[in-house]
Amino acid sequence: MHKKLFIPGPVEVAPDVLAKMATPMVGHRSQDATALQKSISEKLQKLMFTENTILLSTSSGTGLMEAAIRCCTRKRAAVFSVGSFGDRWYEIAKFNNIEADKFSSEPGQPTTPEMVEEALKTGKYDVVTVQHNETSSGIMNPVQAIGEVVKKYDDVLFLVDAVSSLGGAKIEVDAWGIDICITSTQKCLGLPPGLSLCSISDRAYEAAKQKEFRGFYLDLVKLYDRVKKSHQYPSTPSLSHMFALDYQLDRIINEEGIENRFDRHTKLANILRAWAEKHFSLFAAPECRSNTVTCINNTINFDFADLNKKLAERGFTISNGYGKFKDITFRIATMAECKEKDLLELLGAIDDILGLEI
Ligand SMILES: Cc1ncc(COP(=O)(O)O)c(C=O)c1O
Repeated sequence: MHKKLFIPGPVEVAPDVLAKMATPMVGHRSQDATALQKSISEKLQKLMFTENTILLSTSSGTGLMEAAIRCCTRKRAAVFSVGSFGDRWYEIAKFNNIEADKFSSEPGQPTTPEMVEEALKTGKYDVVTVQHNETSSGIMNPVQAIGEVVKKYDDVLFLVDAVSSLGGAKIEVDAWGIDICITSTQKCLGLPPGLSLCSISDRAYEAAKQKEFRGFYLDLVKLYDRVKKSHQYPSTPSLSHMFALDYQLDRIINEEGIENRFDRHTKLANILRAWAEKHFSLFAAPECRSNTVTCINNTINFDFADLNKKLAERGFTISNGYGKFKDITFRIATMAECKEKDLLELLGAIDDILGLEI
C-alpha cells in the first residue's frame, strides 16, 4: 500500500506531474532544451519575485549550497544556524577549506537581525548564510528583516537556504536582497528528488569570478555563463525533471495561483499547530514557526516507531525528530499538494492510535 507522505520531503507528487517525468527525451543541446530552460526560468522568476538569473543543477539542494558558499566566500562566511541544515553550511565550508564561523541560536529560537548585525559590524565577513526554513526544528527565520541588515554592507553576499519552503511560502528575493536563494525539487515544489535550483544576482556572479578555485561541476560562474549564452548547461541536465518542473510551475502559477498556494500552506500549518498545542507543545518559538513543517515536542513520551508503524497500516507516514532532537520531537510536513482533508485524516488517525482526547 502506498503511504501518504507527511515527511518533510520527498513529498506526494501529483500523478500528472509524475507522468511528465516520462516525457520522451530531446537532445540537451537542442532548441527544445533551450526553450525548456527559458520557460522554467521565467516561471521561477515569478514564483521567487526576482529578475535574477535562474540556474538549475542536477544535484540535490546540498550541491547548490556547496556551490554557493564555495564560489562566493572570498574572505570569510558567517553561517547562522537554527538546526541541522544550518550546521550543514558550516560543514560544507570546512570540507572545502573555506574560512567560516557559525552563529547558533538557542534551541527553538530564530536567527535575528541583531545577531547578523553584530557579526557584520566586525568587518570580517563577505558572506552570510541563513536558513529561510529550518526543516530539523520547524523554524522559519525573519529573512526579510535580516536582508535589511545585510543590505547595509556593500561587499557582503546574502545566501539563503529555502530548500524546504520555496513554493510553499512567499520569498521576495529581490525586495529582500537575497543574492542566492536555493531550493530542491522534492519539497514544496512537489516534484521527485534529483534537481535543485537557485536564483543568483549579478553581484554574486561578479564576486564568484574573483575566486580562483570554484570547483568544476558546481562552478556557478560556468553555469551562469552557459545559461546566459544559450539557456543550456555545461553538462547533461535531468531533462525529465525539467519537463515535470515546467509543467508543475504552470499548475502552481496558473491553476492554483501563487498567493493561494501560500495561503493554503498557512491554513494547514495553523490547523496542525492548533492540534499540536492541544496535545503536545511546539518546538519553535511563536514568532518563528514554519508554515511548511511543524516540529512537535513529544511531551507524552509515546513510542514514535510504534506510532509510525501503526500509521503505515492506515496509509500514512510522518517523521521523527532530526539531529540532536531526534528522540524528543517529531515532525509533520504539510508541503506541496497537501490537502486539508488528508491532514485531518492523519491527525484523526494519530488521535485514535495514541488515544488522545478529541
Ligand atoms: C532546510 C534544508 N536544507 C538543505 C537540505 C538538503 O537538501 P537536499 O536533500 O536536497 O540536498 C534539506 C533537506 O532536507 C533541508 O531540509
